[in-house]
Amino acid sequence: MTAHRRLTIGLFGFGVVGEGLYKVLHQTLSLNATIKKICIKDPHKKRNAPAELFTTDRDELLNDETINVIVEVINESDAAFQIISIALKNNKAVVSASKKMIAEHLPEILRLQQETGMPFLCESSACASIPVIRNLEEYYDNDLLHSLRAIVNGSTNYILTKMFENKLDFKTALLEAQQLGFAEANPTLDVDGWDAAHKWVILLCHAYGIVTTTDNILFTGIQNVNENDANVGREKNYEIRLVAQAKKLMNGKIAAFVLPQFVKRDDHLSFVKNEYNGVVIESSFADKQFFYGKGAGSFPTASAVLSDISALRYDYRYEYKKLYHHTPNELTNDFYVRVYMSFDEWDFIPREKFEWIEEWHAQEARPDGMAGRGRKYLIAVIHFKHLAENTWWKQNNTSIILAPDPIIEDMELRKLKKKSLELAGISQ
Ligand code: HSE
Repeated sequence: MTAHRRLTIGLFGFGVVGEGLYKVLHQTLSLNATIKKICIKDPHKKRNAPAELFTTDRDELLNDETINVIVEVINESDAAFQIISIALKNNKAVVSASKKMIAEHLPEILRLQQETGMPFLCESSACASIPVIRNLEEYYDNDLLHSLRAIVNGSTNYILTKMFENKLDFKTALLEAQQLGFAEANPTLDVDGWDAAHKWVILLCHAYGIVTTTDNILFTGIQNVNENDANVGREKNYEIRLVAQAKKLMNGKIAAFVLPQFVKRDDHLSFVKNEYNGVVIESSFADKQFFYGKGAGSFPTASAVLSDISALRYDYRYEYKKLYHHTPNELTNDFYVRVYMSFDEWDFIPREKFEWIEEWHAQEARPDGMAGRGRKYLIAVIHFKHLAENTWWKQNNTSIILAPDPIIEDMELRKLKKKSLELAGISQ
């Protein structure tokens, strides 16, 4: 594609993002890009665009030689993968917002880009309006990236804000997130952390050249986080966020996970509320940088799609420099974390797995001799593999929230353990 080439777009999907894109494109005349055809699934649904634009036949777009850009913003991951595969093979540039599809097919998508030489841009697939992918590709084009901490899911952040600041119950907060167009068609993807994990797979590739799947990333969502947890946090001056984190350890390997986390009030991420997302990047010389913006919703997501379309005028493509030009990084589960857990019954907690327990709150027995019915909790240090390789912490109604700065490396462990035991009056 030559510079400033006219872009003729075939659009797949006319939901929250597709319709948003249609509107923002009409307000961005300077772009020299037009939508020629829109492929939809349901021809009977009322659409806010001229009827002649729509078709249900995907080949009308994929085989049209005048269409040089396919924008794919549909919900179904398998269909989306087929569409983008055919489009790339038919020499069309592709812009996609389908994070689930990209995370599930990353190796194939990388191969298709290499084989066809066509660009595949997906800025809107992670953190919507925040230009994080292009920054990781271009600005952090070196191996000095120490860590990334991010809120990458707008719906769960919205729900946490509404539950703990506005005192809404979980169901009402989720319903609002759905009505505002933030949540996935299947909101379990948001609530249970899948969506954040998909986005983390994508960002790990652009940040560290890691090609992985959600099977290799420990994640959970906010499904078990409750008011008791928020109260413990408040006592300590912490807030709760669903945080995706990646850190280069001293051994050069990368620790990565997506888990609820207590954040201190002066942490940049505590500033991120409602459907906003935020990314804190730490690098060798710049120290901390903070990116902030809307992470879900029609126009914020469409704005990133628009930016990708605009970048195609200059034939922009990801080079995946950290994957192809540097030695790609490797994930590891060999580190420790400081964690808070609340649960119903002590009996299910494998206490022997913890390095040490710093706080331990058991409910007193009731006068009638029955066990107390409140939540019990502990704060402890545990090897990450005991979380990553087991599921005991997903049972017994357990809520798991990492402490602020949760990662503890091997070298720090002994020193911290000694200090902690001394504080508890135990010498070793
Ligand atoms: N369901 C997603 C979210 C939409 O809430 O972040 C944006 O990717």
